[in-house]
Amino acid sequence: MSGFGSQCAEMVRAARDGDYRVGLVLGSGLGTLADEVEDAARISYTHLPDFPVSSVSSHSSEVVAGRLAGQDVVVLSGRAHFYENGNAAVMRTPIEMLKELGCEIFLATNAAGSLRAEVTPGSPMLISDHINFSGVNPLIGEESDARFLDMSQAYDPGLRERLMRVAATNDMELAEGVYAWFSGPSFETPAEIRMARTLGADAVGMSTVPEVILARYLGMRVAAISTITNLAAGMQESLSHAETKEMGLVGVGRLKTLVRGLLADLDNPAFK
Ligand code: HPA
Repeated sequence: MSGFGSQCAEMVRAARDGDYRVGLVLGSGLGTLADEVEDAARISYTHLPDFPVSSVSSHSSEVVAGRLAGQDVVVLSGRAHFYENGNAAVMRTPIEMLKELGCEIFLATNAAGSLRAEVTPGSPMLISDHINFSGVNPLIGEESDARFLDMSQAYDPGLRERLMRVAATNDMELAEGVYAWFSGPSFETPAEIRMARTLGADAVGMSTVPEVILARYLGMRVAAISTITNLAAGMQESLSHAETKEMGLVGVGRLKTLVRGLLADLDNPAFK
């Protein structure tokens, strides 16, 4: 690890100590989840060494450490993306910080476009696997054999099962599917979306995949949930970031139910 992650972890612990097991990252339009964290210490990314500050409107840039649904959590409210500066490892220090704080579980959220007409804006989609269509990888430049990371079960089967059960308990439909990472920042073309569908994608987005690779590299269990904010290019008239933000707000209620349900269940002895 670089050393920045442990420095940042010390700063968070100085602001609020806790038994942190779960780290979350919040995507576009999903930041209101951070408002629900209780007994919270909030630290701006600008105060943490090597933390990237996102230039994307709708992303705040704060670490929020506190309590949610009976668990100590560390929320990364706002993320930086590969398309902002061309660095696929841009989220490395924040994720190393989570690991240093003791988080065993990394829960990623994002806004995404749906390739399935029946999975409509406002719906959550549990990510079962991904396609890295960007051509880059945050582990490029790593020198040890650990870089040859096994991605066979990157999205933890036990956590997925648990989230499916939370959805069922709450009478919520929860689609499951493959997320394809396109670098952005331009949206995809309709032809690219037809290609992605042929390749097996169910949703597309511009984030998450590099973070999941980094979290797995650090040995964390990973779950990831997309909030569908639009049908993908060619499936609706046009696409815009304004719609991503607006529909993120519509979908965040269901995301909160899933996250809270998972957290509330972590101490259940049946939890695997
Ligand atoms: N494509 C890429 N990223 C996105 C989309 C999309 O359609 N919607 C929200 N984020």
